[in-house]
Amino acid sequence: MKKSWLIGGFVVAVGAIVTGVAMLYSLPLDFSERAPVQPLMFSHKLHAGVDGIHCLFCHRYAAKSPVAGLPAVSFCMTCHPRFGLEIKELEAYVRDRKPIPWVRVYSLPDHVYFPHMMHIRAGLVCATCHGDVTAIEPLTRFVDLKMGWCLGCHRQKKVSIDCWTCHV
Ligand code: HEC
Ligand code: HEC
Ligand code: HEC
Ligand code: HEC
Ligand code: HEC
Repeated sequence: MKKSWLIGGFVVAVGAIVTGVAMLYSLPLDFSERAPVQPLMFSHKLHAGVDGIHCLFCHRYAAKSPVAGLPAVSFCMTCHPRFGLEIKELEAYVRDRKPIPWVRVYSLPDHVYFPHMMHIRAGLVCATCHGDVTAIEPLTRFVDLKMGWCLGCHRQKKVSIDCWTCHV
């Protein structure tokens, strides 16, 4: 009787360890990289969602250059000291003349060329690649940004998949 209890306990313990290790492997371990901690709480839900500010109002180069661009602190201040929208952390950056050190969520290695404007002109919307940023808070990487992801869509839309298209 005692022995079978012991064996039973042993089986349960081994099972728990195996499940634990399996879970570790299946968890998204790069989660902090996919949703980095930002120096200042900026809400797309409030700005682009509730207040309905257009994406291109802040990311103004997306339709005409390779990079989309992030707004400068001075740009934030076109609204922020006014309308009773004072934000202490923001004013500290203005006072110290320092850019806000945002941590990039989407970035490719240097050997890859990604032109935003070609994709926007081809009629793709931001959400295709970035998800609904007004609903993903904190802002988290929505796609894996691997080569296979680019190629999948290029094949589907009959866009060039020559190596030199993306590798410079
Ligand atoms: C076009 C006007 C406008 C611009 C530009 C703007 N904001 Fe705002 N921001 C608002 C409004 C309106 C609110 C208040 C939203 C509310 O409480 O409903 C707000 C709220 C905030 C808040 C407080 C959020 C909270 O949780 O209460 C922060 C922080 C903030 N903005 C940061 C920024 C930063 C950083 C920038 C520049 C990248 C910026 N804002 C640019 C209009 C603007
Ligand atoms: C009021 C200005 C403002 C508006 C409007 C706005 N953004 Fe942003 N966006 C920012 C700021 C500031 C950051 C940097 C902070 C962060 O990553 O959370 C950012 C970051 C991002 C990033 C991540 C960039 C990276 O790689 O780190 C994406 C993607 C993005 N925005 C997409 C959008 C889309 C799509 C819309 C429209 C639905 C939009 N944004 C509207 C100000 C804005
Ligand atoms: C076909 C996919 C795709 C579409 C559509 C797209 N993006 Fe991006 N976005 C990317 C990729 C890939 C990166 C990383 C680029 C890099 O590191 O060179 C990126 C990076 C960014 C960044 C951070 C770096 C930068 O370029 O300034 C912002 C902000 C951004 N996108 C905003 C937008 C907005 C706003 C739209 C819609 C107007 C949009 N994107 C549409 C794929 C896309
Ligand atoms: C959801 C679909 C989609 C995804 C994902 C996508 N692309 Fe594209 N890409 C397009 C389309 C459509 C065009 C064609 C634009 C045109 O021909 O006007 C294009 C064009 C390009 C071009 C210019 C091609 C040329 O002939 O000059 C480059 C470079 C490029 N993409 C790189 C990338 C990279 C790098 C990635 C991944 C990080 C990527 N794309 C992901 C749809 C996509
Ligand atoms: C549509 C864009 C696109 C095309 C076309 C493309 N690549 Fe890539 N490639 C990428 C992206 C994006 C990455 C970065 C992926 C990452 O960081 O995981 C990459 C990464 C790589 C890497 C590095 C892999 C690694 O693990 O770091 C090699 C090697 C490579 N590509 C070779 C090629 C060859 C060879 C071709 C032609 C047969 C090609 N690529 C065509 C987008 C492209």
